[in-house]
Amino acid sequence: MDLTDRIDSAVTAALARANRGHPPERLAKALSYATLPGGARIRPTLLLSVAAACGDDRPALSDSAAAALELIHCASLVHDDLPCFDDADTRRGKPSVHRAYSEPLAVLTGDSLILLAFDVVAQAGDDARVVGLVRVLAKRTGMPFGICAGQGWESEPEMDLAEYHRAKTAALFVAATQMGAISAGHDPEAWEDLGALIGEAFQVADDLRDAEQDAESLGKPVQQDALHGRPNAVAELGVDGAFARLNDILAGAIASIPSCPGEAALARMVRAQADRIVPRQLARKRA
Ligand code: IPE
Ligand code: IPE
Ligand code: MG
Ligand code: MG
Repeated sequence: MDLTDRIDSAVTAALARANRGHPPERLAKALSYATLPGGARIRPTLLLSVAAACGDDRPALSDSAAAALELIHCASLVHDDLPCFDDADTRRGKPSVHRAYSEPLAVLTGDSLILLAFDVVAQAGDDARVVGLVRVLAKRTGMPFGICAGQGWESEPEMDLAEYHRAKTAALFVAATQMGAISAGHDPEAWEDLGALIGEAFQVADDLRDAEQDAESLGKPVQQDALHGRPNAVAELGVDGAFARLNDILAGAIASIPSCPGEAALARMVRAQADRIVPRQLARKRA
């Protein structure tokens, strides 16, 4: 099974847990709507790739970890699109959850997906790896190191751009590399830098797409950073500077891969994912 199929199966199995008994029908549908089909699934793909590089001796556990991480990510998007945050009408090429189902159901969808994520990990075993996965997932989701903190910076009068991006975006990439390592019984500490650097690169790529791409090809509103007056890499460095920064960070990311049995294959995977996230048509447009 390729990684995308593994991720979709694991997310589908997680959703089945949320549909046991007689759940409220519209909320149950909204959970599926928010998660299937997914977007690029880049975080769980990275998680499973790191697990593979570390031997992946418990694939059922890495599948659960991958599903949990993607559920947290999907929840963050549902909440991020709400009128009280970015007020976005579209996500992944279709109406955002609050537009399709209502604001109360979007709030509950995000809440339910977050709790489902922890449930999925918790039911995957009762050993030290499971405890490690829960700890990393909680740390990189909540306060003060996770995506909640990242979103929280948008309500402060001043922020440090690097710190904002670290919490808003890189946190879940650190969770991806560390949870992949933990699932396969490896020390997560060695994997923090790779996640942080890929996350930083991803945010710069996202800022470039927001500034330079059109809403139709991106499947969500564009020019949002400028609209909301959010600090971003394009405003700070210009388009050329942002591209140069992206390439530097990616080179550093590949150099930071810890030595492990599947080191070379993982480096190839990071390069392949980079080709996906770097806005190719933008690069061509500029060439
Ligand atoms: C979008 O993430 C949110 C950011 C942190 C910039 P993705 O671009 O990974 O979204 P999907 O999952 O592919 O839709
Ligand atoms: C979303 O950030 C990040 C989180 C939900 C943690 P953005 O608002 O920059 O991302 P998009 O453009 O809506 O995907
Ligand atoms: Mg936002
Ligand atoms: Mg947004």
